[in-house]
Amino acid sequence: PTASTHAFVVEPHPTPVPANERTGLIANPGFGRVFTDHMVTIRYNEVAGWHDAKITPRAAFQMDSASAVLHYAQEIFEGLKAYRLPDGGAALFRPSANAARFRASAERMAMVPLPDELFVESVRAIVRQEADWIPDIDGGALYLRPFMIASEVFLGVKPSSEYLYAVIASSVGAYFKGGAPAVTLWVSQDYTRAAPGGTGAAKCGGNYASSLIAQAEATRQGCDQVLFLDAVERRLIEELGGMNIFFVFDDGSIATPPLTGTILPGITRDSLLTLARDMGLSVREEPYAIDQCRADAESGRLLEAFACGTAAVVTPIGTMKMRDGAFQIGGGGPGQTTQRLRQALIDIQRGHAPDPYGWLERV
Ligand code: PLP
Ligand code: COI
Repeated sequence: PTASTHAFVVEPHPTPVPANERTGLIANPGFGRVFTDHMVTIRYNEVAGWHDAKITPRAAFQMDSASAVLHYAQEIFEGLKAYRLPDGGAALFRPSANAARFRASAERMAMVPLPDELFVESVRAIVRQEADWIPDIDGGALYLRPFMIASEVFLGVKPSSEYLYAVIASSVGAYFKGGAPAVTLWVSQDYTRAAPGGTGAAKCGGNYASSLIAQAEATRQGCDQVLFLDAVERRLIEELGGMNIFFVFDDGSIATPPLTGTILPGITRDSLLTLARDMGLSVREEPYAIDQCRADAESGRLLEAFACGTAAVVTPIGTMKMRDGAFQIGGGGPGQTTQRLRQALIDIQRGHAPDPYGWLERV
């Protein structure tokens, strides 16, 4: 079946959050704590295919204790934002790219892929339903969290034959507290995130579960985020727990690690590569070793570094800390090229600049 055969049955919340209360909640939402009234759910089984597409009050799932996801973690998710446009409308940023990545994640985790059109239709449906929850604050957006779990009730180790897909929505502000002018990274030398042949390129919950101990170590070290190195040589820079990474050099070029299967193919990463090329910057996707990074920072060849992702947008990296000491990048604060790329991206996302790439999808 195609998307057009899936009308979303709407069961409105009987007691939605009153408007004045909502205004208070979304005035300073933080990240991922304020949820809207409704959610999307769609179910899959082998007989009916994808069916039962609904918008209902957001509520607890009733789940059998033998549901496959609870035992073997067959779970994937996405993250994308809806923005308020200057004319009062709302738009999604590159939802088809999230749909394609969700499909790739499903394939890697031996799950039944949700058709791309249905993914896009589901996020459009929740944004239409919950547009009043988009915060009108600097950096505010409605963060959409599509996810899929294995819902078959059995304990054998095999791909589930039943799935539950859902989309919840959260009013968000900046991911880092205080809008963090520049963040500090802890270079994880004990823990790695993903090995060749593993699930690093998939957005599955397990990748995040395994990153938490390294993130906790980063926090103990007084750092904001963890930076992972490759699992084979323990030398090449890969990505952060939930963001990709870029470097800006003194010759005006920029670089980011290549998509070798062990890092998440970020949509922000891809968008920034396009923006940078069209600004005339020289752009490289190439491996970069942590020792070289440190040497380049100390010699002044490396001027700036930044993290990027849907949640973090573009966040400057000021300092990196590792076992044998910390080093600063450039002036330790936001760099010029970082700010320029960040502004170019935000201006398109929020409808303040023309969108020559057709990235915005009005809802
Ligand atoms: N890397 C990881 C591990 C992530 O979780 C994310 C966030 O989604 C990203 C990178 C950035 O991806 P995107 O720009 O598509 O949000
Ligand atoms: C996102 O940017 O959407 C992510 O999944 C990252 C997470 C840190 C919230």
